[in-house]
Amino acid sequence: MTKPLPPMLSGGLPVFGHALEMLGNREKLFKRGHAEKGDLFAIKLGPKNVVVITGAENNRMMYTETDKSLNMQDGYAFLKKSVGEVLFTASKEDYYNQRPVLQEIFRRERMTSYVQAMNIEVQRWLDSLGKTGEIDITKEMLRLTQYVAGHAFVGANFQAELGEDFWECYADISASLDPILPPNLPLPKFIRRDRARKVIYSRLESVIRTRRQNPDRYDDLITALMTTPLKDGSLIPDELIINMFIAFIFAGHETTAGQAAWLIALLLQHPAYLEQLKSEIHANAPYGTALDGATLSRLEHVYMAIDETTRMRPSADTQIRTVDQPLDMGDYEIPAGWMMMVSGATSHFLPDVFKNPERFDPLRFSAERGEGKNPFAIVGFGGGMHKCTGMNFAKNEMAIITTLLFQQFDVQLLSEDIRVVMGNGANHPSAVRVRYQRKPLSELTDAATIKAAVEGGCPHITRQVTP
Ligand code: HEM
Repeated sequence: MTKPLPPMLSGGLPVFGHALEMLGNREKLFKRGHAEKGDLFAIKLGPKNVVVITGAENNRMMYTETDKSLNMQDGYAFLKKSVGEVLFTASKEDYYNQRPVLQEIFRRERMTSYVQAMNIEVQRWLDSLGKTGEIDITKEMLRLTQYVAGHAFVGANFQAELGEDFWECYADISASLDPILPPNLPLPKFIRRDRARKVIYSRLESVIRTRRQNPDRYDDLITALMTTPLKDGSLIPDELIINMFIAFIFAGHETTAGQAAWLIALLLQHPAYLEQLKSEIHANAPYGTALDGATLSRLEHVYMAIDETTRMRPSADTQIRTVDQPLDMGDYEIPAGWMMMVSGATSHFLPDVFKNPERFDPLRFSAERGEGKNPFAIVGFGGGMHKCTGMNFAKNEMAIITTLLFQQFDVQLLSEDIRVVMGNGANHPSAVRVRYQRKPLSELTDAATIKAAVEGGCPHITRQVTP
């Protein structure tokens, strides 16, 4: 006997189904569905049947069945015009051919130079703030994460090589994302997208040419893409190098910016935990300490806050698959042709997995408490074979931003009502306005620490602003 279909959520409209409710606030829709029907329920998006899943066991099935009875690329087909056919938008065969390159780009040894780039760009940002002022952290993170990505991927000269208007072009591509309209319609946003892609292509062709002419002078991501063979042994064609670069920026920019802004906002909203985190920074990473891998590994409270932010405010709260072959899930059967969506909004708040789930409580991840240990309980970075390859990059970047900011500044939160803003790409908080005050140098560290850091060649000290 075949199993029944997942139960349909109430409230679907004729023709649209739950599409309008989903566009309005998918987090609310998923929470309503979970409260009404449990861990597996169906919604309709226009004519499409979608099963929404919650809980580690269902999540595990979705991730481990990807590239088997589920496929990833159909759900992300709307991205193809923007990022090309690459990685998560490519066919399964192409993805597995490209995968060794992905592993090379994010291998552990490369993280050292990415971390250096992060230190330099974050410190440059902090130096630019002056002694005191007011800023919107949400906006600042969007800009800062661009500079970090530019520096980490193309090198210190990234501004000149990519061109002043590179990020405006990227913004045109990002703003054109549309999961509903056909991507070839002659709409202004699609015309701007195609124009922006042409500009980015010509810039990156020139970046590739420069490296081909002087292969010994470069050791960056583009050079790695040019020299790492695909699984079939061939070198990556230039067009694919460019698409991969755009795909990395696309996957990593707004996601990291949104989550970094939430991290700072949540810390400022929870002063008791922030004090513990500041003590940890003071003890392990005082001003002038190089924030390398060894120092970062001592900042447990910082990384637990990052994990708690991923749980409570995931910037990639849902991920999509298409069912290629009928699938048994719990008490139900999901037919071929359906879509599947994982729900961070409900999975991350299950009270039998996370104690007082509505509470910001990073210590839940401490060794003593060890909540959410199941690798599929939290889905903010995905899971299984396609789990975010840039996760450590993003976590280290957020750790460096948080550490250097609270190491050098007193920060006061001005915004009262901070909401989740849902985009077609990644979620981010509404404005996070803060007032900041640079700490006096005497408070930052003692002279001996500065001296030791200068003798050790600490990169921050040379650009120190005298308070
Ligand atoms: C807080 C920041 C980030 C979040 C929340 C995030 C989230 C995710 C998620 C949820 C997936 C899985 C998608 C799926 O299964 O459908 C993913 C995949 C991916 N991410 Fe990230 N990401 C972040 C940062 C980054 C960064 C910084 C990079 C690169 C520099 C990056 C590169 C990738 C790539 C290449 C994939 C595809 C992996 C594959 O298909 O094998 N991500 N990311």
